[in-house]
Amino acid sequence: MNKILQTPKYQSVSQWGMQSMKINPLQRLTYLKKQIIICTGKSYTRIRARHSTNVQTLSKAFEARDHISEGHTDRLQSLVTDVAVTIGLSNSKLTDLRIFAQFHDVGKVGIPDRILFKEGPLTADEILEMQRHSEIGFRIAQSSWDLAHIADWILKHHEWWNGDGYPFGLKGEDIPVECRILAIADAYDAMTNDRPYRQALSHDEAVKELKKNAGVQFDSKLVENFINIIEENQSRNRGWRQFLLHQS
Ligand SMILES: [Fe+2]
Repeated sequence: MNKILQTPKYQSVSQWGMQSMKINPLQRLTYLKKQIIICTGKSYTRIRARHSTNVQTLSKAFEARDHISEGHTDRLQSLVTDVAVTIGLSNSKLTDLRIFAQFHDVGKVGIPDRILFKEGPLTADEILEMQRHSEIGFRIAQSSWDLAHIADWILKHHEWWNGDGYPFGLKGEDIPVECRILAIADAYDAMTNDRPYRQALSHDEAVKELKKNAGVQFDSKLVENFINIIEENQSRNRGWRQFLLHQS
């Protein structure tokens, strides 16, 4: 049985490595991580309701801590919405997808800073520890009324089209479409923005990478869709810029 399904009745997130996390200047995080108790059974409803607000606060605290991803959430929400509209997802799914874009990496609160902010390549053990953020995020989401409905997507947001992803190694359309959309948008945004350890790739370079990984990491049809949308948006923005220049 998968270890995710073997979770004891009561488990605190500190068991997933939060104890080694540096918290300054976000002292509230210390309190919050103790609050997020992953549980089932009688106490579930009571604790889950209390955690709803906490998860929102936790996410904000995490965004402040993870300075690398500044602005990432807003861009990601916009990108996933654009793709979702073109494939006809319902309005309620669009809302859920935007929440998913905001919280998909919330499990990184359980990853120690020495790994999360490490410059240079991770060791094999560190990679495994980093990968646990999907499961940690799943547990956090399950503990919140606001996020429980997207917990499964959080768990599966690193699955690959060819089955080489984690934690389950799901393939193709067994991966929820919301996860497949997010994976493409997340990769594109990460590639086209600076990181402390590398400069941003150009749009053309990022598109080349997406195409290279279509059918491997990503859903080919969605990659094609995504590239069309991005290029249409860019073309529209160029048009607006020219229009505004002529007006000034
Ligand atoms: Fe992730």
